[in-house]
Amino acid sequence: KKITLSVIKADIGGFVGHSNVHPECLETAGGILAGSPLLIDYHVTHVGDDINLIMTHELGKNSGEIHELAWNTFLSCTAVAKKLKLYGAGQDLLADSFSGNVKGMGPGVAEMEFEERTSEPVIVYMADKTEPGAWNYPIYKMFADPFNTIGLIIDPKMHGGFLFEVRDLIDNKKVTFSCPEEIYDMLVFIGAPGRYCIKSVYQKGTNEIAATSSTQRLNLMAGRYVGKDDPVLIVRCQSGFPAVGEALEPFANPHMVSGWMRGSHSGPLMPVSVNTSSPTRFDGPPRVVALGFQLADGKLHGPQDFFADVSYDLARQKANEIANYIRSMGPFEPHRLHLDEMEYTTMPDVSKRLKDRFEKVE
Ligand code: 13P
Ligand code: 13P
Ligand code: MG
Ligand code: MG
Ligand code: MG
Repeated sequence: KKITLSVIKADIGGFVGHSNVHPECLETAGGILAGSPLLIDYHVTHVGDDINLIMTHELGKNSGEIHELAWNTFLSCTAVAKKLKLYGAGQDLLADSFSGNVKGMGPGVAEMEFEERTSEPVIVYMADKTEPGAWNYPIYKMFADPFNTIGLIIDPKMHGGFLFEVRDLIDNKKVTFSCPEEIYDMLVFIGAPGRYCIKSVYQKGTNEIAATSSTQRLNLMAGRYVGKDDPVLIVRCQSGFPAVGEALEPFANPHMVSGWMRGSHSGPLMPVSVNTSSPTRFDGPPRVVALGFQLADGKLHGPQDFFADVSYDLARQKANEIANYIRSMGPFEPHRLHLDEMEYTTMPDVSKRLKDRFEKVE
């Protein structure tokens, strides 16, 4: 019997500003999922201003019924957000009505279908104030870097390596790299996370799904600035996959990601608990939460809020120090994102308005 784990998320309005989700929105979402006969189990949570619906069921990936349930849940939450005049009510719901699949409609989706192992530990990662490419560095570390994951060396089931499906979000293409043989080729692409994102990772030989992320760019869909995409990621752990601790280890070093204030800055990704996931300083710094669950016949036992642990205190301190330094750059690159990314903000308008002021230099 196969179980599907679906994580579907959206920002339907912030409380206060872009910092958090109003409790009434979370209650509304929980109430709707509790009443659905489609689900085996669910957990409603948030990171910063994004609502995350973590759901298990037997309807497979891309199920119209599950996606519609998520869409309708976000619509009901948006009604609450409008009533409370929360900030940016309905922000990530780009479509007027549901059309069979939430992909391309605004919400972020990460789903995997698998046969539950004797023990099935999974981690759901959720980030706020950043974009899908933010997962490239930690996924690479988990599944391709033996200095992070000793299992790649000493676990016979991991020693063969993993397959990485990489998406080109601009040209809408995908390519699969076989690692470790092709890590140099792959890094040419995934080192540019604004365009190339690791969508999924598969165990070599068995082709078992190991990890999958949400990869959509809201600004590319909407054609204008609509906030960052605040991505999610699911990773299966142990027995041929990274140990839980190996899957958490990359976040001990806060890497630089795009997002933060107005989705237009570079900053460190700070690992935090759900309760401390609300970005404050300059609407940041960007946050990541990791929730662990043991699945048992589709039931979600958990969560364990991993980054609440003291062993991530130094990562938070380091992130604060990096944030302090990079903030001093103000509106200058590389704190401010490069021009390509600014194309979705004021750059086109300002350029157009000042067009006649630019004179040709001979
Ligand atoms: P325990 O001995 O605590 O079960 O730990 C085993 C292990 O492999 C930890 O990574
Ligand atoms: P969100 O994508 O989290 O809504 O953030 C948008 C923003 O502009 C923060 O300053
Ligand atoms: Mg927001
Ligand atoms: Mg957000
Ligand atoms: Mg967003």
